Amino acid sequence: MDPTFLPTSGDGSENRSRHRSKQGEARLPPGPRSSWRPTLQLIQNPRKALETWANEYGDPFLLNALNGPVVVTGREDLLRIIHGQDPSIYAPFATSTIIPLMGSGSMLVLEGEPHRFERRLMIPMFHGDRMKAYGASIQQCAIEQFEAHRIQGSIFTLDLMTAISLEVIVRTIFGGSDREIVRQLMEASRKVVASSSPLLFFSKKTHFSFLGFSPWDQWQKAKTNLFLLLDKVIEQRQQGNNQSDDILSLLCGATYEDGQAITREHIYSELMTFLFAGHETTALSLTWAIYHLHKNTDSLGTLRDELDSMADNSPTSMSAAPYLKATIQETLRIHPIITETLRKLKSPLELGGYFLPAGMGIAPATVLAHHNPNTYSEPESFRPERFIERSYSPFEYMPFGGGHRRCIGAAFASYEMAIVLGTILKRYEVELIDTTPVVPRRRNVTIGPSSGVPIRFVSAR
Ligand code: HEM
Repeated sequence: MDPTFLPTSGDGSENRSRHRSKQGEARLPPGPRSSWRPTLQLIQNPRKALETWANEYGDPFLLNALNGPVVVTGREDLLRIIHGQDPSIYAPFATSTIIPLMGSGSMLVLEGEPHRFERRLMIPMFHGDRMKAYGASIQQCAIEQFEAHRIQGSIFTLDLMTAISLEVIVRTIFGGSDREIVRQLMEASRKVVASSSPLLFFSKKTHFSFLGFSPWDQWQKAKTNLFLLLDKVIEQRQQGNNQSDDILSLLCGATYEDGQAITREHIYSELMTFLFAGHETTALSLTWAIYHLHKNTDSLGTLRDELDSMADNSPTSMSAAPYLKATIQETLRIHPIITETLRKLKSPLELGGYFLPAGMGIAPATVLAHHNPNTYSEPESFRPERFIERSYSPFEYMPFGGGHRRCIGAAFASYEMAIVLGTILKRYEVELIDTTPVVPRRRNVTIGPSSGVPIRFVSAR
């Protein structure tokens, strides 16, 4: 082994300096050789595929994905190194695939100063008092949607949670718009999400037209519809009508550092990104939470006791309830919605005894870290108590990714999930209709439950 590959101090500082000084031949970990098969395996069952390769080739391993080669790891020591680097050594991954989908102004594809600028602009919208101001409307939305779904008899949890989280994000973005516009925006956004075939996110090669029926055609049609609507709303805002404190108003009034107004294309991109990143993820997590709680009745009982003992039903009390928080953490551990995050190296990096060249992809594999039996005893068991018994480092537990691209909506999503789950479980009793096991299945970049988790309303509490 190369003697320069020393154990790290644990804070990544040695590697920060070593990746700059050492220039040498690439030395890559082993991994599956072909590209189509592993990409398909990763689409079909990411956790099984990643665990199989980690067992077969060791961690880290190299994956020749269709979007380019990627070194994958779920090891805490290596994740610490990866997230400890100066952000300037990383570029976003697969931008050529994401830009046609989200647009070139999306935070997902920006880097360097424009990325920092965008995060500085947006972060206040999703934290502190601004975030808390949404609490009452999140709660109201959860109750209204539950009541609307309840009269249908059986409820698909995923439909219910999607309706709630979509309304929440649409209201956060377009808060000042009238009800009819919000309804239309919700419908158009739902169609965009429904048209997002997983293949479109995996390779640019799938971005082709075929008589109006290809996945790309379906996506374009849904997106154009949404943009036509957005145009109307943006024009109203830019003419000074309907000014409010929402994200759209913030973007319409924002300028770049040279004083130029943010372009229309940029606004489209960011709104698409928030619509897309900000609701499906939350809906899937809430669906898993309902499923696991009703499969693990002891956990459900403990949570109900906590909710019943709360002094009031306010969003503030719900977001402070420890077992409710642990339930959400455990749900995101057992089923990370994004199983691996991706970066592209702009400078070489030494990692775990290998020397990765510039241009190589790096994937912190959340799902491997979250199912590591050395960190989590019985990783397959749903046990919220583990988050009360001890805390986990950001390199052992990372449902929202890490480093300079960590999810900007993490605090907002946790707040929303606590209010929605707490409110529904405190007010209503439901039961699972179908008790057959639900397993993770890929949707697009996200992984969700293999069924919509049908439930039946039992009684009001
Ligand atoms: C349970 C819900 C959610 C989960 C599991 C989740 C997870 C993630 C993950 C894993 C990333 C990638 C981080 C990385 O590359 O290291 C991410 C990025 C992002 N998320 Fe979330 N997210 C959730 C909710 C939200 C919400 C509610 C919003 C918006 C309100 C949001 C907006 C974003 C944005 C804009 C990025 C890109 C950040 C950047 O590149 O700088 N997410 N999210």
